Amino acid sequence: MMRGNAATEEVWAEIQAKVAEFYRLYHADRLTRPGEDLLQYAGRVFDEHELINGVEAVLEFQLTNGHFEREFADGLKALLDRREVLLTNSGSSANLIAMTALCGQQQPDRLMPGDEVITPAATFPTTLAPIVQNQLVPVLVDCELGTYNLDPEQLEAAYSDRTRAICVPHTLGNPADMIRIMAFARRHELYVIEDACDALGSRLAGQFIGTFGHLATLSFYPAHHITTGEGGAVCTNDETLGCVARSVRDWGREATDDQSRLAALSGDELLFDPQYRYVEIGYNLKMTEMQAAIGLAQLARLAEFSRLRQQRFEWLYDHLRRYEEALMLPEWLPEAEPAWFAFPITVRPEAGFTRGQLVRYLEARRIETRFLFAGNILNHPAYRHIGRRVTGDLPNAEVVARSTFFVGVYPGLDEGQIGYMLETFDRFFDHIAHSSNS
Ligand SMILES: Cc1ncc(COP(=O)(O)O)c(C=O)c1O
Repeated sequence: MMRGNAATEEVWAEIQAKVAEFYRLYHADRLTRPGEDLLQYAGRVFDEHELINGVEAVLEFQLTNGHFEREFADGLKALLDRREVLLTNSGSSANLIAMTALCGQQQPDRLMPGDEVITPAATFPTTLAPIVQNQLVPVLVDCELGTYNLDPEQLEAAYSDRTRAICVPHTLGNPADMIRIMAFARRHELYVIEDACDALGSRLAGQFIGTFGHLATLSFYPAHHITTGEGGAVCTNDETLGCVARSVRDWGREATDDQSRLAALSGDELLFDPQYRYVEIGYNLKMTEMQAAIGLAQLARLAEFSRLRQQRFEWLYDHLRRYEEALMLPEWLPEAEPAWFAFPITVRPEAGFTRGQLVRYLEARRIETRFLFAGNILNHPAYRHIGRRVTGDLPNAEVVARSTFFVGVYPGLDEGQIGYMLETFDRFFDHIAHSSNS
């Protein structure tokens, strides 16, 4: 891809060979030893291709807005069949842009302060935060246990004449019921943002998650399906929303091209450069070329990554079924094909042990666990006092807060390591049976 003369081409070929050698020497054989090294719940999976792309971006020194950015965005556009994909510096930024775009001055029928957005209480903080940051009112609904997604049964009760939008995370890559959610949204003329940060590659009824709502967001943090270190994207098929979102991402600036700028420059009474016309109160949340270069190499692996995640999920699921009386295993819609982010487990009240006991046992044996993000977001100091409406008492979000956790299914865990995880679960159950008999 690098352009240059024969001399630079030759040096570049040598550099690529050296980078590949460095990859083999430094990264390739870093085997994790089960029981000794931490079996992470997620991590970066890469080879020399990501390193070569990253080095190429540094050597080209475009740093931002270059060909890698266009190629990575185009790759995502083609995959998800979207008109607009805007690369961002994180999934949180993508969520902020998406919600702010719905409130944008260029957006006809925009959301106004005090308008309501329905979203689950069991969530990730920066799924909810942009609602509050845009002076909108979150209407918190409960999740389903098992899928951990927004419970569509609750939408009708949550709705009021101020409701304008729904923000739907696909928890841990598990598709929310977009068929029912979109039908509800259409009935009430609501905007829908899909937080697909955990769900790139998941499908529902054969259709990619992130293509049902008006806007969707992705995250490329290392725990996610593909990584750029920090990074994310906003995706939409709506030209106006795409244009507003671009302005919000790029300082609030009006999107313009060189030709229209030159035409506009012909006037003598200009108060500002046409390149610097601000149509939104914006941010700068763009991705760099180095990140996009790495993302492009990762995107080529997405299908394989999704397959490997599903396989690891099945190894865990098939074995852990024997403990279903004590552990609630993940559930998904019949028409869903999740690209699982992780494997969620809820310890049932009648299990005879607590989440804390099981998680401490696993962690002491070097198996990394996490609780399900924020649990009930209202339990957190920053969110306790936000203006909101709440539908019901959120009993399931409280169960998630107290009893749910997840372990990893990412491609970096091999069959032996998943086997070690499962043996550790077996030993835990033996230990529990033993201590309750004695
Ligand atoms: C559902 C969800 N939304 C948003 C984010 C934020 O993404 P980022 O870490 O890239 O800011 C995450 C992060 O893991 C997430 O899980």
